[in-house]
Amino acid sequence: MNDILPGATPIWQYLERQVKAVLSSYGYDEIRMPIVEQTELFKRSIGEVTDIVEKEMYTFDDRNGESLTLRPEGTAGCVRAGEEHGLLFNQTQRLWYQGAMFRYEKPQKGRYRQFHQIGVETFGMSSADIDAEVIMLSARLWENLGILDAVTLQLNSLGSNESRQQYKEDLVTYLNKYVEQLDEDSQRRLKSNPLRILDSKSESTQLILQDAPVLSDYLDDDSKAHFSRLTELLDQAGIKYEINTRLVRGLDYYCKTVFEWVTDKLGAQGTVCAGGRYDGLVQQLGGKATPAVGFAMGVERLVLLLETLDAVPESEKNSFDLYIAAQSKEVQGDVIRCAEMLRDGISDLRIRTHCAGLKNINNKARQTGARLILLIQQSESGVVGVLWNGTESSAQIPLKELPAVVAQQWAIVKQG
Ligand code: HAM
Repeated sequence: MNDILPGATPIWQYLERQVKAVLSSYGYDEIRMPIVEQTELFKRSIGEVTDIVEKEMYTFDDRNGESLTLRPEGTAGCVRAGEEHGLLFNQTQRLWYQGAMFRYEKPQKGRYRQFHQIGVETFGMSSADIDAEVIMLSARLWENLGILDAVTLQLNSLGSNESRQQYKEDLVTYLNKYVEQLDEDSQRRLKSNPLRILDSKSESTQLILQDAPVLSDYLDDDSKAHFSRLTELLDQAGIKYEINTRLVRGLDYYCKTVFEWVTDKLGAQGTVCAGGRYDGLVQQLGGKATPAVGFAMGVERLVLLLETLDAVPESEKNSFDLYIAAQSKEVQGDVIRCAEMLRDGISDLRIRTHCAGLKNINNKARQTGARLILLIQQSESGVVGVLWNGTESSAQIPLKELPAVVAQQWAIVKQG
């Protein structure tokens, strides 16, 4: 579990702002759920024999002896909240949430025990149009962030529960012939969760899988039509995708569409966003049958990707634009006053004042990385400011002229 330090938070805030702008442009509503839910909720939704439920949940008994779990993901809680507050029956919803999730995994780059997701869940819409919308929304976000070229969309259809069941049986029959050659994990999954074997990283298992039955051959007509409508909409929107018939996802609630946005720039943990359709989950948790589709992105992985690609605009790396300092003790008192005057006049300028020792002040001010530096000085004609924009400094500016001059310089600096 990590501290996110002041050097990194500007990038997090930049990313969150970009995501919120896109979500708002698609008319999505925010929902905020608790971090803790009853353990049973996750067992029933994510699935008893998934990695998350079997070995990754932070579960504890509260003082009443009730089993609670720190949420490992947001979909289950979102469905629980929607159901509990009557948001799902006979209506459509487009929701989003953000926050910390918890999984007891082996930490490595891009994989943490407390991590953050921004997730989207839609309810009450069964056509592939909404699958396409949530994918387009994510593609637009990558485009706005300047990382679209670094990510690939992987797409698959899992079909209906019935068609998948038939496939599972045939897959197990086929793999049973090679039990001895399968890796240990896959041998275990053969009984508990055979579809996850398709995800296996073991080369020998992948070799055996080459001649295994393929899920797409088992799709029912409705799922086939749904998938072909989705790919048609993505084609029309110019969104490139790869069909990956081995993509099955690690949570049990999916049917029909599943997708992942992956990058090869982050090493082993390359999935930055993942999701799919889960038409059966609301009913499974006690509600009326309600179609649903959504995804969640991993904020840490996206921040890493932005940093790796150097895709964060310079202006977003600092939490202030103008640094004001006094050049000598006598004018220290004018610094705060001057900063307030500038804040009154220029609403979008972020100003930080220097309130510490003045030794080496010119260098200190420059080391802040601020795009504008204002040094307050005592001159023969009174108190003045000298404005430094990174390449050149202004003449001495009388205090009352400062708002106009700073505003003008700020306009130029902003344009880049
Ligand atoms: P998930 O694939 O388990 O799906 O997680 C979604 C994303 O969260 C991953 O692609 C990854 O970027 C990030 N993530 C997961 N685990 C970690 C970790 N330990 N450290 C850092 N990042 C991580 C879900 O959680 C589903 N609820 C998504 C969904 C929403 N499906 C439908 N609606």
